[in-house]
Amino acid sequence: MRITHQSDIASSEITPPELWRRRREFLKASAAGVGLIATGGLLGSPGRVSAGETIPNIKPSPLSTDEQQTSFEDITQYNNFYELGSGKSAPAANAHHLKTRPWSVVVDGECDAPGEIGIEDILGGFTQEERIYRLRCVEAWSMVVPWVGFPLGDLLKRFKPNSNARYVAFETLYDPEQMPGQRRAVLDWPYREGLRMDEAMHPLAILATGLYGEIMPNQNGAPLRLVVPWKYGFKSIKSIVRIRFAAREPEATWNMLQPDEYGFYANVNPAVNHPRWSQKMHRVIGEGWFARKQETLPFNGYADQVASLYSGMDLRRHF
Ligand code: MTE
Repeated sequence: MRITHQSDIASSEITPPELWRRRREFLKASAAGVGLIATGGLLGSPGRVSAGETIPNIKPSPLSTDEQQTSFEDITQYNNFYELGSGKSAPAANAHHLKTRPWSVVVDGECDAPGEIGIEDILGGFTQEERIYRLRCVEAWSMVVPWVGFPLGDLLKRFKPNSNARYVAFETLYDPEQMPGQRRAVLDWPYREGLRMDEAMHPLAILATGLYGEIMPNQNGAPLRLVVPWKYGFKSIKSIVRIRFAAREPEATWNMLQPDEYGFYANVNPAVNHPRWSQKMHRVIGEGWFARKQETLPFNGYADQVASLYSGMDLRRHF
């Protein structure tokens, strides 16, 4: 695992993307023995970690938390994206293999207007709000990411789900050429996830196209990924190419692999432990490995907004 917190950079420092890139270029140039003057060009045109383009006309969402944001560096260098390798630093290292243009998403299944939508239409038509959410992963860490995205429901409605549509299924691109991790059967590819229809229509379930005001870096799931902040991180499927309305609960990658460890719902729940570890506490990324852990809240702190979706359900059974 790569630890980004014990460098010369203060762990709590919140680094905007441009500044961070410039510092990376500077460090790279210094390591190569290139003097400060010679780095002028590099400093002027910082190397792109990924797409990095600014997304115009975004505004803060009223759903945003006011908690401190995790640094751009931590968000983009400490990832889970098995298609781009196992280990937290592999996705960033292999990100360049993934080509995100052209890109389109097929939407079909139980709906009256199935079809395909191109990423340019998605970017042009939906991305209006910047949303800041805590994203908590099942490995028990948390980040506050300023996602650029839009409600998943806005896209789903366009395809007119019919009355049989009780679930929504998602699939990631399958292409071992672009996704070196798929050359091995680490998971049952393609990565799949699903939500119940009412969960998918909740305004906190978003599709993200960027973060920190920029087009999504590949390692974070470019060009389009799900973000469901009240669920464990593995539900937030990356690099989506297919969305299907379904009558029955769809297959979900981790749930299929280890059903007793990863439930279909995967709502953040400190009262239900993972069979191999407690889920009561988590580490906050950016605070360092030795910082005190933080208490995990039911539904990751979004209980007021989402708990009613599950009223009457036994959340120990439907974990
Ligand atoms: N989506 C795909 N396609 N492949 C993956 O391996 N990993 C999941 C989720 N989405 C994953 C994925 C897991 S386990 C987590 S914790 C989050 O992505 C991590 O998102 P992040 O790297 O942007 O923090």
